[in-house]
Amino acid sequence: MKKIFVFIALAGMAAFIFTSCGSTKKEEKATSEDAYDDYATAQPKKASADDLIAQGKVLVDASDCKTCHHATNKIVGPSHTDVATKYEFTQANVSMLAQKIINGGTGVWGEIPMTAHADLTLADAEKMAMYVLSLDGEKPKD
Ligand code: HEC
Repeated sequence: MKKIFVFIALAGMAAFIFTSCGSTKKEEKATSEDAYDDYATAQPKKASADDLIAQGKVLVDASDCKTCHHATNKIVGPSHTDVATKYEFTQANVSMLAQKIINGGTGVWGEIPMTAHADLTLADAEKMAMYVLSLDGEKPKD
């Protein structure tokens, strides 16, 4: 099931890239300038926080999180909005929550344990944590 969602996400991205190649020459130039931080040395642009949050939402939607977490209501786990309210949107909290998403754990919100997600990469878990932390409207702090 999960693989299907990842496939759909990848297919969507491929379709987007494919269609954006069909633009006129002038637009193409603008696109390639947008894609690089430093056009002269062609350093690929770092993904913005908004991009990472959007990718995190796709990953959360494609994973099993919704079995236990509702965006705004407590089910088995706390609502992800409650999690966002509890923690400041800092790099330290993104790392801490990413570790919790990967390793699981208990004792912060009650006695019910959160299951581990050992198959997630740290980068993906961090995107998920960023998405969760964005749900109270807070922006990432430097
Ligand atoms: C089997 C049910 C279950 C699933 C599946 C689940 N969670 Fe949880 N989650 C919990 C519970 C229960 C807690 C509270 C744990 C605690 O009290 O320490 C929790 C806590 C959290 C927290 C807050 C951690 C903290 O220390 O405050 C985050 C963030 C989170 N989950 C994200 C996710 C994401 C993202 C997914 C999907 C990859 C996910 N969860 C899947 C049950 C689940």
